[in-house]
Order: sequence, then structure tokens, then C-alpha cells
Amino acid sequence: MSNSSDAPVPNRRGFLKEAAAGAIGGCCVLVPAAAGIVAWLDPLSRDAGEAGYLRVAQLAALPVDGTPRRVTIVMEKTDAWTRQHAVPIGAVYLRRVGDGVVALHSICPHAGCFVDYQASRKSFFCPCHESTFAEDGSINDPHSPSPRGLDTLDVEVRAGEVWVRFENFRTGSRTKVPVA
Ligand code: FES
Repeated sequence: MSNSSDAPVPNRRGFLKEAAAGAIGGCCVLVPAAAGIVAWLDPLSRDAGEAGYLRVAQLAALPVDGTPRRVTIVMEKTDAWTRQHAVPIGAVYLRRVGDGVVALHSICPHAGCFVDYQASRKSFFCPCHESTFAEDGSINDPHSPSPRGLDTLDVEVRAGEVWVRFENFRTGSRTKVPVA
């Protein structure tokens, strides 16, 4: 016949160890999972640079006479699982103007084709529907189907480096509306 003294005595230290192990294990699973869900739900959080500016060129690499130079915009993309270096996300034309730099988007505001710079004409040309733009990005042909000139982008020159706040704009609109 057994009595109460034979019953197993609860081990308080063992219980605390198991509870702590469970809590740590839960954190190991939940924290990465939460980070992955945030990145998946908000793709912009994967692309954001420092205040949206990206270093795109050396100032010394741009022609001093103001001739536009096409530059591919690349950035690092990171999500919860991978990190990719130098992923192309677009292109801009950079021009030296005085002591500063002007950045023009390379996408035609009409329907989104890439524009070419034609040095012989000192103008930009869109091969899709033949819009033409002056070197400063303005429409230089009244028959141009583009509803507005080429879009300018914010630029900063920092210690000889050109930084651009790259963004895209809605096409087919008379006004410049950022694409969210
Ligand atoms: S997309 Fe450039 S003119 Fe139509």
C-alpha cells in the first residue's frame, strides 16, 4: 500500500528550465517569421536606401560641357532570406549644369519607353511614338505625344559623388505623380 510520501515530488527547477527553453525556442521561430512576413507585406521596405538617395556616379565622370550621360541605377536588395548586390532598377541621364547636376528620368512620360539621347541633335528621342525632348528635358516639338517633359529627380553632390533620389512617375499624365 502506498502513501502520500511515495508520490513524485514536483521538481521546481526542472519546470523553470523547461519553461525557459520553451520561451527561447518560441523566440527563435517567431522573430524570423515576423521579419519575413513584414518584408513580404511591404516590398518597399526591401528597396529603401538612405533617405531614398543612391550613389550613382562620380562628378568627374560627367562631361563638363553639359552633355547628358546615361547611368544605370543599381541597388542592393534584401529580403528575409536573400541579399542581392547591384540589382538594376532603372536609368537616369545626368548633366552638369554650372556647379551642379541635373538628373532626368530615362522613361518617356507618354507610355513608359526608354528615351535615347541623340548627340547630333542635342535632344532626347523616344522611339515608340517619336516624342522629342530638349537637353533640359522639356518638350521641343508641339506634336510630341508626351503629355509632359522628362521627369527630373532630386540630386545631391556629396564630396565629388552624385547621389540621386530615384523614383518612378505615372505615365500618360500631364502632372508628375510619383508611383507609390
Ligand atoms: S512612349 Fe514615348 S512617345 Fe510614346
